[in-house]
Amino acid sequence: MKEIGKIIAEFPKSPESLIPILQEIQEQYNYLSEENIKEVSEKLDLPLQHVFSVATFYNVFSLRPKGRNIVKVCMGSACHVRGSNRILEEIERKLNIKNNETSADGRFSLETVNCLGACALGPIMVVNKEFKGHLTPSEVSKLISQELIEEKS
Ligand code: FES
Repeated sequence: MKEIGKIIAEFPKSPESLIPILQEIQEQYNYLSEENIKEVSEKLDLPLQHVFSVATFYNVFSLRPKGRNIVKVCMGSACHVRGSNRILEEIERKLNIKNNETSADGRFSLETVNCLGACALGPIMVVNKEFKGHLTPSEVSKLISQELIEEKS
């Protein structure tokens, strides 16, 4: 994992660098800590309030630690009519967490999104960056079990 100072140093000291820097920190650490936000604010010479508002405005950023694996379930209308509710319930049951929660062991975070742009494949979930389409609750159960096993090893 890259140090925050190194990440910041890779970008020009300019307000335009704020979002790319926050993205890189989010990518590396899975969230933006208060300490990291302060460091970005100081090094870019931007008001702390401004950096916080950018970090809270975009939902790609998280101020809370996320799990090592991010599971996203599409709840857009096309996926919804094809049963995404049942998919979400199955994942919640399997991981023992609710939407927008992270498992106590820090392995999984569960989120919902509105449309992933692949409606014909619905219902869809994305595990990290991998799309899984045409899901049924039993397939989901199998996929999550595999993820649990692979993530452990
Ligand atoms: S509604 Fe789910 S991908 Fe579009």
